[in-house]
Amino acid sequence: MKQHYRIKFFYGGRGGGKSYAFADSLLFLGRNKKLFVACLREIQDSIRDSVYKLLCDRIKFYGLSDYKIFADKIENKFTETVFIFKGLREQDAQKIKSLEGVDIAWIEEAQTISALSWEVLEPTIRKDGSEIWISMNRLYENDALWLAVAANPDERTLVIKANYYDNPFCPEEMILQAKKCRQKSPENYAHIWLGEPIRQDNNCLIKSEILRRAFEQNIASTTSPLVIGLDIARFGDDKTVFCFRKGRWCYRFESYENKSNVEVANLATNFILSYHPYRVFMDVGGQGAGVFDILKDRGFNEIIRGVYFGEKAIRDERYFNRRAEMWGEIVEWLEKAPYPKLPDDDDLYNELTSVRKDFDGKGRLKLEGKAEIKKRLGRSPDKADALALTFAEPVFEGRTPQIYGHKEVCVEDIFNDAAKMQTGW
Ligand SMILES: Nc1ncnc2c1ncn2[C@@H]1O[C@H](COP(=O)(O)OP(=O)(O)O)[C@@H](O)[C@H]1O
Ligand SMILES: [Mg+2]
Repeated sequence: MKQHYRIKFFYGGRGGGKSYAFADSLLFLGRNKKLFVACLREIQDSIRDSVYKLLCDRIKFYGLSDYKIFADKIENKFTETVFIFKGLREQDAQKIKSLEGVDIAWIEEAQTISALSWEVLEPTIRKDGSEIWISMNRLYENDALWLAVAANPDERTLVIKANYYDNPFCPEEMILQAKKCRQKSPENYAHIWLGEPIRQDNNCLIKSEILRRAFEQNIASTTSPLVIGLDIARFGDDKTVFCFRKGRWCYRFESYENKSNVEVANLATNFILSYHPYRVFMDVGGQGAGVFDILKDRGFNEIIRGVYFGEKAIRDERYFNRRAEMWGEIVEWLEKAPYPKLPDDDDLYNELTSVRKDFDGKGRLKLEGKAEIKKRLGRSPDKADALALTFAEPVFEGRTPQIYGHKEVCVEDIFNDAAKMQTGW
């Protein structure tokens, strides 16, 4: 008897022919008998995110006039096969019930499927003879669906790897791109084209080379305004840290333990009166709200700004939240020439390199949770968060500091071209 596989799991790199093979197979199966096909992904803001377009293209390519294309579904006029398109994240218990009659569920971009979505979906696809087809380009070693389905497949699960060189239809242009990528970056090639998961260690947000470069940089002065980032301790073992940054020059950190709100507010008051910062950005998620209120009461309204790490990013389309956005700004700051300077500090080094990046279903940068970072680091990245806070909002940046020769300092009066004034973070 022919083996019947309930789950068909195809994985591999870009261009392996997975999506086309699934689309073509489903269209042909749907012409033979009535099928209810659900095309699923983790997030589907619009039908344009789905495989709808690919199916339409293939229908046109083969001239399958028996398929009728609607705005939100595709139907076969003779067999009454129906294709629908859904995002799993948006499915509540009621909506997921509508998937109970599904014959074939196609999960595309399965590397983004969460464990929760899978737990809800799997038992819903329960019709006799129903199947789940999965196409995935591995992201991380612990991709939820990989672990749940493919890492230890049972006898009803078919797991097949397909890369671009396995695809007889792979366009010449794609093969050239793959070769170019192999020469330029073997690491990227292994992930993008061979479908290998990204090793978590390669996945830290801030690379040690760019950080070391900032530790070795020579900047001694700048005309950029002073911005202070203030990260306030949330728990007994966390520290309250002030970070001082002027444009591309970050020159000082001050850490304190076990300070009351009034004491922190007094320290901040001293710094404001002594150094006249243009802004003090402070974390007001926890304790900070109390400190903020005291400073406001003392008339520093113009200078202080409260920030919630978890709130919506300013550039919402790029960053998952404010915290990811501020850390993303640190990366941009470190990467852009003239390179910035940071105090050479082991704690800061460990904190900045320990944070791992992630991407949400919309491809926005997201940082791993504070709890995980704390587990690995043994403490909270307080200094790094204080530095991140200095990037909370764009601040007018003075003239770009210039660096002269070896171990020389920059001099700001050397700037003769006021037109080169820049704005920045
Ligand atoms: N059956 C096919 N007929 C024609 N071209 C195909 C076929 N399958 C794949 N291709 C070509 O190969 C490319 C990669 O296929 P695709 O299914 O998008 O790969 P994957 O989903 O694995 O990244 C497609 O863009 C298309 O040009
Ligand atoms: Mg694909």
